[in-house]
Amino acid sequence: MSVNRPLNRVLIGISGGIAAYKVCEVVSTLAKQGIEVRVILTKSAAEFVTPLTFATLSRQPAYTDADFWQPSNGRPLHIELAEWADLIVLAPVSANTLAKIAYGIADNLLTNTLLAANCPVLFAPAMNTTMWLQPSVQENWRKVQTFANYKAIAPTDGILACDAVGVGRMAEPEIILEYIASFLFTKGDQDLKGKQILVNAGGTREYIDPVRFIGNPATGKQGIAIAKAALHRGASVTLIFAGDSSLLNADMQMRTICVRTAKEMHAAMNLGFATADIAIAAAAVGDVRSQLRSNSKLPKAELPLKLELEYIPDIVADLASRKRPEQILVGFAAQTGTESEAIAAAQDKLHRKGLDAITVNLVNSEQTGFGTDTNQATFIKANGDMLSTPLCSKLELAHRLFDFL
Ligand code: C5P
Repeated sequence: MSVNRPLNRVLIGISGGIAAYKVCEVVSTLAKQGIEVRVILTKSAAEFVTPLTFATLSRQPAYTDADFWQPSNGRPLHIELAEWADLIVLAPVSANTLAKIAYGIADNLLTNTLLAANCPVLFAPAMNTTMWLQPSVQENWRKVQTFANYKAIAPTDGILACDAVGVGRMAEPEIILEYIASFLFTKGDQDLKGKQILVNAGGTREYIDPVRFIGNPATGKQGIAIAKAALHRGASVTLIFAGDSSLLNADMQMRTICVRTAKEMHAAMNLGFATADIAIAAAAVGDVRSQLRSNSKLPKAELPLKLELEYIPDIVADLASRKRPEQILVGFAAQTGTESEAIAAAQDKLHRKGLDAITVNLVNSEQTGFGTDTNQATFIKANGDMLSTPLCSKLELAHRLFDFL
C-alpha cells in the first residue's frame, strides 16, 4: 500500500454467525480509539445483529446488500468501499463466506468488495466444530491462508452456541483488536514470515522455600507484546514466561512455556535458542538467589536472619557465547536514574554480555514502569545505532523494535 498518512480506516465484514454480537465490541472500541470504521453485513449477518447496531456504534452507515447498487460518489459502492479501506477485517467468517473467498465468488456486497480490494485482510472464522472440521472447510481455510494479503486469526476451543465444546469459537474481541492495532501500524507487513522468534518475559522468582522467594515486580506485559507483535508479523513464536499468568490469553497462537526460576528459564531458553532466528530477552531474570533452598516450608524460627546469596548465571550472556553469526540476540535493560545514565549502563551491558542490541527503558516513571500498558525506550545496536521511541503502547514499542532490528 502506498499511502503515507497513518492508517486509520477499517472496513469490517460480518457474515452469518452468532459471534457477530462480539464484533459490536470490536466496532465500538475502534470508534472510541478514533479509528474510522465502516461495516458491511451479509444477509445472514443481519439476521443476528441489525445494521442499525453497527451504524450506531461506528457513527457511519452500515451497508447491506440492499445498498449494493446504490452508487457512492457516483461510483459503485463495492469499489468505493474497497478503495476507502486501509484494512479489512472479516469477523466472523462463516463456512459459506470462507468458501466464496477461497474460490473468488462474488455474489453479494461483501464478497464483491473483497475482490475489489488490495489492502490487508484479517479473517476470523467461527462455526460449529463439525462444520469447521469438514475436509472442504479445512481445505478452504488452508487455501485462503496462502493468499498474500490475507492473515488468519484462528478460531479457538471453547463452548459454542450449539452447546458443543470444541474448536470453532471466534477469537475474542481483544485478540482481534490487537491484530488490528498491529496491522494499522505495520500496514500488514509479514516481514517475519518463516522466522522463529524466541521471547522471554516476566520476572523470575528465586525460592528460599516453597512460599518465600526473592523476586521483582515485572509482570511480563512488554514481553507478551513483543511475542504478539512477532506473531502478527508472520513469525512462529515461542514465549518463555515467568510473569502474571492472567495476562496470557488462551488463544495467543504461540508456544508458551511457563517457568518460575532463573534455572528453569535458562533451560527453556537453551532449548528454544537452538532453532531461533531472533531471541529477545525481555524478562527480568534474578541476579542473585539464596544459597539456602528448602523443599518444605521453613518454620519462622528456622528462617535465617541473614541470607547467604549466590550469583545466578547470566542467561543472555551464556546464549551470546553460543550464538551463530546469523542469529540476533536482543537484551533488555530496565534502569533507574537519568536517561543518559540509563543509556550508558545499557551500552555497558550490551558489550559485556555480547548482545546484538539492547532496549533500555526507565522503570522509575509512572508510565514506563513495571506493569504499565505504555512504555518508552531507546534501542541500541552493537554497531552504535540508536533510536528512541515516543511514549506508546507496549505493542507499538514491540513493532518499533522489530522495525529497528
Ligand atoms: O544486568 P541486567 O540484569 O540489567 O541485564 C538485563 C538483561 O540481561 C535482560 O535482557 C535479562 O533478560 C538478561 N539477564 C539474563 N540472566 C540473568 C540476568 C539478566 O539473561 N541472570
